[in-house]
Amino acid sequence: MKKKSSPKGDSAKESQGPNKRQANGWWGEGPVFVFLYDKRKREAITNGVAEEILQFIKESEHSLHESEALRVIRIDNEYSHPVLFVDTGKETGLDQLDHLRMAGYRLAKWAENNAIKTLMIPPLKEDSLEKRYAILQGLCHASYTFDKYKSKKRKRTDVEYLFADNMEIDGNSLQTLFSGIDFAKDLINEPGNALTPEIMANIAQSIASKHGLAIKIRRTKELEKDGYNGILTVGRGSKNEPAMVTLSYRPKQKCIYHLAFVGKGITFDTGGICLKPQDKMSEMKCDMSGAAIVLAAIKVIAELKFPIEVDAILCLAENRPGENAMLPGDIFRAKNGKTVMVENTDAEGRLVLIDGLAEAAELGATHIIDIATLTGAIKRALGTSIGGLFSNSEGLTETLVESGAENGEKWWRMPLDEEYADSLKDSVADIRNIADDGPGATVAALFLKEFVKKDLQWAHLDIAGVDFVSKSYKYTEYGATAFGLKTLVETAKKYSMDEIRS
Ligand code: BES
Ligand code: MN
Ligand code: ZN
Repeated sequence: MKKKSSPKGDSAKESQGPNKRQANGWWGEGPVFVFLYDKRKREAITNGVAEEILQFIKESEHSLHESEALRVIRIDNEYSHPVLFVDTGKETGLDQLDHLRMAGYRLAKWAENNAIKTLMIPPLKEDSLEKRYAILQGLCHASYTFDKYKSKKRKRTDVEYLFADNMEIDGNSLQTLFSGIDFAKDLINEPGNALTPEIMANIAQSIASKHGLAIKIRRTKELEKDGYNGILTVGRGSKNEPAMVTLSYRPKQKCIYHLAFVGKGITFDTGGICLKPQDKMSEMKCDMSGAAIVLAAIKVIAELKFPIEVDAILCLAENRPGENAMLPGDIFRAKNGKTVMVENTDAEGRLVLIDGLAEAAELGATHIIDIATLTGAIKRALGTSIGGLFSNSEGLTETLVESGAENGEKWWRMPLDEEYADSLKDSVADIRNIADDGPGATVAALFLKEFVKKDLQWAHLDIAGVDFVSKSYKYTEYGATAFGLKTLVETAKKYSMDEIRS
């Protein structure tokens, strides 16, 4: 996909006239003007030529009464170009930037389906870089596809998007971000047989080599030696060996902050001996979303050379029943010395994460953010649009929420009240991995909190509801959304520029 910003002020007039346009659709091969408007509010979102088009809509309401959000109309205006109408008000409840992302997504899909070569995007009302980025983000989301297992591939056409005037757009960092997003989605969408802990560790190794990151891979032996028994316990039921991968990015500059990202990397979650029901179990291939996101995040941050120290820790294991699998009632000793009783083998994410949290502290991080498809409870509480955020720090919470909001990723801060921590007490071990009842997502977060040093700022992002969609949702058709990646990258950027809340 090409995205260009036209250097000329009014290049529309200079491009091919109506005569050159012939059959693709009736709109032919010349540029198609894009006109964004909010149908409900009867408001133009784009400017210039848009004004006269708005007049046209008002006069010919009948032709636009359908509920469709996209329509091409030929208007005999002075340019005599076909105009693609995109309704930016179709979805309810989105903020302005997310409306623009959706508009970008829809118009890109349309252009591809209709083999359009050039789309001309006029200036927006109260134009800003932010708004243009939002449209471009929508275009980028539309270009993602996971068809490597399909015999018939998606047919791609190169669409050129021209902004009608030049506003400095940093296309490079957008491309870098989206190649990271696509990379994370590809990993998440891979089935469990194609992405084992070992394969994921090898992919991390090649990312590290390519981007000059230090990397440490601990397999069974090293995990045993260093006392990382959570990952070992969960991984025992599978022939595919578990691993912990630590990648470190150290810029040349002296930095104030040191972030550690910890990702849950269960390459497949069967539930283990406490086997899951079969309904949609296949989607548990996405249970390594957290690890994919932290790997993609450090890749993007290294490529963009943010002046901040970052570690990405991938806690990789496959959760299976098996000859050697952990059993309910089993007890292991965690890195910090606490003993943990496994009441339910399906609550495995928290067991691998405590090793990652310990590793983050060992590395000297000032701020730790873990990200995990941790609980079905968060999905029931917040649905598929909002991620759950738990934190011991007001400042980190605000920075994460703000970073997400700027990027179409909503977070809702959930309670982390100690009152519920008692339910995790065990009669034999120091702590058990589930409670008899209580708020599931909060209880899981409280379990993690027991393994985080009190003086560190820590946030836990539960993405079980938002990381993967079973049916088309916003700018994802089916599968991985990579929700959380933009938040992590933006957060690292804010910390690197010391633009944070405290
Ligand atoms: N990976 C699941 C959580 C999950 C659910 C992710 C739905 C994505 C979509 C996690 O390991 C799990 O099984 N959690 C259990 C915990 C329970 C046993 C306390 C759950 O939420 O049911
Ligand atoms: Mn599970
Ligand atoms: Zn899981």
